[in-house]
Amino acid sequence: MPDAETPTPTALITGASRGLGAAIARELAPTHHLLLGARTAEALSGIAAELPGNTPWPVQLTDYEALARACAPIERLDVLVHNAGVADLGTIAESSVQQWRNTLEANIIAVSELTRLLLPALRAAGGHVVLINSGAGLRVNPGWGVYAASKFALRAFGDALRLEEPELRVTSIHPGRTDTDMQRDIVAGEGREYRPGEFLTASTVARTVRTAIETPRDAHPTEIVLRPIARDTE
Ligand SMILES: NC(=O)c1ccc[n+]([C@@H]2O[C@H](COP(=O)([O-])OP(=O)(O)OC[C@H]3O[C@@H](n4cnc5c(N)ncnc54)[C@H](OP(=O)(O)O)[C@@H]3O)[C@@H](O)[C@H]2O)c1
Repeated sequence: MPDAETPTPTALITGASRGLGAAIARELAPTHHLLLGARTAEALSGIAAELPGNTPWPVQLTDYEALARACAPIERLDVLVHNAGVADLGTIAESSVQQWRNTLEANIIAVSELTRLLLPALRAAGGHVVLINSGAGLRVNPGWGVYAASKFALRAFGDALRLEEPELRVTSIHPGRTDTDMQRDIVAGEGREYRPGEFLTASTVARTVRTAIETPRDAHPTEIVLRPIARDTE
């Protein structure tokens, strides 16, 4: 908890409207002032009401003019959690140029541009960049090529940023399958029954974000990998 003398640190979380991003917002709310990202103010109304006193930050991350406008007022940023992402699965044979473009745009190009715009604010705070990656950023399964390519790129981005900005900390978190809307869509696409107990909980992944940012400053948590332990497959 911040003491009375230390100003409350600020954290920007993209994709905070639901799923992992909302869980990360709930986890950080007791200790941080939050900028809550999602595409629209409407999408953010639930989490903003749940976590009053924080700031909704609605912006389409792939609209780079809007993104620059939204970033302009941010002068100091302690934590930037890149959580927003899309998963559009299918084999290479079934893939389309549009699918590649949409996936790479959301999962890596927008991440890079948002980071670039916020570098002065992050440098001012000696900030921490957290990249919500995936098991698919470490290994590829059939049908996951497009998504995995975007997450491998995200890992390379994090590795480069860590070397280029030594005053910042950059952590890639690689969760396995996690119980969210995205996972429900993936399981529906696989034609399987959805059993939440097979997956990580979003709150566990969120706790790991806190662990990363609270790691004492003599250490740089570079990569954290989480895999689910099946709890309840009934
Ligand atoms: N679920 C899993 O099994 C799993 C496992 C490993 C890693 N991950 C990663 O974890 C992250 C979050 O996943 P999730 O499961 O919580 O996903 P989700 O339930 O589909 O939520 C995605 C979030 O991203 C936001 N978003 C997507 N595209 C955006 C854009 N162009 N501009 C602004 N916001 C955008 C959405 O905002 P709106 O509400 O406005 O649509 C939403 O808040 C992703 O990076 C995903 O790849 C997920």
